[in-house]
Amino acid sequence: MAPTRQKVKVTDTTLRDGHQSLLATRMHTEDMLPIAEKMDAVGFHSLEVWGGATFDTCMRFLNEDPWERLRVLRRHFKKTRLQMLLRGQNLVGYKHYADDVVEEFVKKAVANGIDILRIFDALNDIRNMEKAIAVAKNEGAHVQATVSYTISPFHDYDHYVSKARELQSLGADSLCIKDMAGIITPTAAYELVERLKGELAIPIQLHCHYTSGMASMSYLKAIEAGVDAVDTAISSMSMGTSQPATETLVASLEGTPFDTGLDIGLLSEIAEYFREVRKKYAAFDVAGNAVDVNVLRYQIPGGMISNFISQLAQQNALDKLPQVLAEVPRVREDFGFPPLVTPSSQIVGAQAVLNVVIGERYKMVTNEVKAYMRGLYGQPPAPVNEDVRRKIIGNEEPITCRPADLLEPQLAQAKQEIAAYMEKEEDILSYALFPAVTQKFLEERMAARTRVDFNLAQAGPQRGDVPYYPV
Ligand code: CO
Repeated sequence: MAPTRQKVKVTDTTLRDGHQSLLATRMHTEDMLPIAEKMDAVGFHSLEVWGGATFDTCMRFLNEDPWERLRVLRRHFKKTRLQMLLRGQNLVGYKHYADDVVEEFVKKAVANGIDILRIFDALNDIRNMEKAIAVAKNEGAHVQATVSYTISPFHDYDHYVSKARELQSLGADSLCIKDMAGIITPTAAYELVERLKGELAIPIQLHCHYTSGMASMSYLKAIEAGVDAVDTAISSMSMGTSQPATETLVASLEGTPFDTGLDIGLLSEIAEYFREVRKKYAAFDVAGNAVDVNVLRYQIPGGMISNFISQLAQQNALDKLPQVLAEVPRVREDFGFPPLVTPSSQIVGAQAVLNVVIGERYKMVTNEVKAYMRGLYGQPPAPVNEDVRRKIIGNEEPITCRPADLLEPQLAQAKQEIAAYMEKEEDILSYALFPAVTQKFLEERMAARTRVDFNLAQAGPQRGDVPYYPV
């Protein structure tokens, strides 16, 4: 008799990580809605649709209100749980926010339709995740606490297991292993999942990027070790720096005890839809689904390398790319081996570029690097290089408390500053996170409303004046 076990659950990331990884997060809501009913019918464990970079890019580049996107998606996805990615105390931004902002943001995310919050911290400093976890639990959401996976002399299985146990004791409903660079090997995936399954009571989910070409193999080994859920993207929005393809996983497991039970016919209709949609975003498409050898050599995620190319091109120093790639692991070691994920990837990456372009290491440093060395992003996984720290902040003592303990409440002032343009409570949060971008967005929205009123009096609303959703 075949062994019985629960089917492998699948989270589809197409509407968040998929287009964030492949199309610079540029997909408009109106390109998500026509396929929503079919995606809702698949039977995914959840759909990751919000958070990460989507919030910022909605306002910055798409003239869309991220809160409105969430509400509209919630109305269209009637059956499937909606999931978001939250950067702990950084929320969906790039720095620490005060506790009052974190509390209100998480409450509003849940109130507007998020069921599952995947919460991580770039340094795996759990103090940076505590507040968001506590509020999300209190709001009745599913908390998926996260360990960010990296490789270093300080990151052994014991390290991840102890972090995971701590997260479970904080009330996490499940645990995600977040392999944002796509560097977990099939063997490591097997061994880590086996350890975690043996020591935790909560379900385990694995999130990989295809960047190095190993992710499908790592998923299979993790599944053999008992992982409960994995993240995939629909084939036409998969691979490269995105997730492994949904259909491949479904077909691979069909008829085995791990069968996902998903309908490959329905999935292929969805893939066909996104194949066409993707063409509209060709200008942003990082394309090329080939294996990124630099990830295998330097563990540098794909998104970082494209940033280097644009930064170096601006300095007319593209020929220095190989030196920058070699400098990243050295900076990372000096900084106590942080996992390279937002915002640590940007902090380490920008400093590596400076070190190479200036020609002397740490002669010039960014403000973020100073803050990092002062402990304001939290505690690095391993001790930092003290010589480097002294060069950057002198004899100043780094803080040892939870960084957000030093932040005064921020919401009241944000509310005051944006009062003239505010239409709903959530606008205050958008402004607290991204003041300049939000102010511009809200000003333009107000101007557009006036135009629409005028148009209405004449000939009805004009498409393009305000976001248009065929609900
Ligand atoms: Co990801």
